[in-house]
Amino acid sequence: MRRTGRERAPLPRCLQTGDVIHATLVISLLLGVWCAQGLEVSTGKVSFVEAMNGSTVLLPCTYASCIGIKNLYFNWHYNDNGTMNRLCEGMIPSEGIEPRVYVYHERVDFVGSSKINNISILLWNVTYEDEGEYVCFARNPKEKNRNHSAIYRLYVVGELKEVDTTLTTIIVSVVGGVIGLIIVVMVVKALVLNFVLKDQDKNKECLVSSSGNDNTENGLSGAKGDDKATPKA
Ligand SMILES: *[C@@H]1O[C@H](CO)[C@@H](O)[C@H](O)[C@H]1NC(C)=O
Ligand SMILES: *[C@@H]1O[C@H](CO)[C@@H](O)[C@H](O)[C@H]1NC(C)=O
Ligand SMILES: *[C@@H]1O[C@H](CO)[C@@H](O)[C@H](O)[C@H]1NC(C)=O
Ligand SMILES: *[C@@H]1O[C@H](CO)[C@@H](O)[C@H](O)[C@H]1NC(C)=O
Ligand SMILES: *[C@@H]1O[C@H](CO)[C@@H](O)[C@H](O)[C@H]1NC(C)=O
Repeated sequence: MRRTGRERAPLPRCLQTGDVIHATLVISLLLGVWCAQGLEVSTGKVSFVEAMNGSTVLLPCTYASCIGIKNLYFNWHYNDNGTMNRLCEGMIPSEGIEPRVYVYHERVDFVGSSKINNISILLWNVTYEDEGEYVCFARNPKEKNRNHSAIYRLYVVGELKEVDTTLTTIIVSVVGGVIGLIIVVMVVKALVLNFVLKDQDKNKECLVSSSGNDNTENGLSGAKGDDKATPKA
């Protein structure tokens, strides 16, 4: 009793100091990570977009920074099978001030605005050759020129009909799948019920037979042993 009491006393104190150290570590780590990721570049929820041949498509990109921006440099690249083609570039002097943008592609328009941290571009009259990876890149000198980028994939499709047929295929297969699933569930349920009922029956039998066995095997002890002994004797 005395031993456990003595062991118990210092243990909470150790845990407390350990907890404090851990919490401090975690907080400083979080702060470090948070500050290191001061600038964030994002294409939003989408990582790819489908565009119809000949249509005009918006390539979205936004940035966010917890420590503010100054002379934020950004550009858009098209990854043409490994070689990076610059589509446009610009510099945002400070928050809310519209950038001066240089566009190097005849079908690209800059449509972003510093007021909403938006550096999106439009790609006009999409062709099949435009399919591929688009990289939105940004660098904030305020953060030791760390590089940030978001990658985005463009798929070019022929006609809207194609999309419709794939949609109907998806709907049909989903509906079919759901019906199939319901049937499977019903069959499984029926089988399980059947087995459970049978098992219950079996269990009853088992219980009866095992209790019978127990009686014979454990016949050594108790009155039954005596009962057995008496006829022998
Ligand atoms: C893509 O669209 C252009 C015009 O927008 C058309 O000339 C071209 O034939 C189309 N390509 C295909 C494969 O449909
Ligand atoms: C892309 O590059 C690979 C080799 O890196 C080459 O085999 C392929 O033909 C290229 N594709 C196009 C469309 O240029
Ligand atoms: C897109 O195509 C249309 C007609 O094909 C043309 O009038 C327009 O100038 C093109 N836009 C760009 C930005 O190339
Ligand atoms: C960015 O700007 C474009 C053009 O004004 C707009 O269509 C798009 O919705 C904006 N994106 C965000 C995330 O605000
Ligand atoms: C950022 O990218 C540029 C090229 O755009 C490169 O020269 C530079 O070394 C990169 N910096 C870091 C920290 O990766």
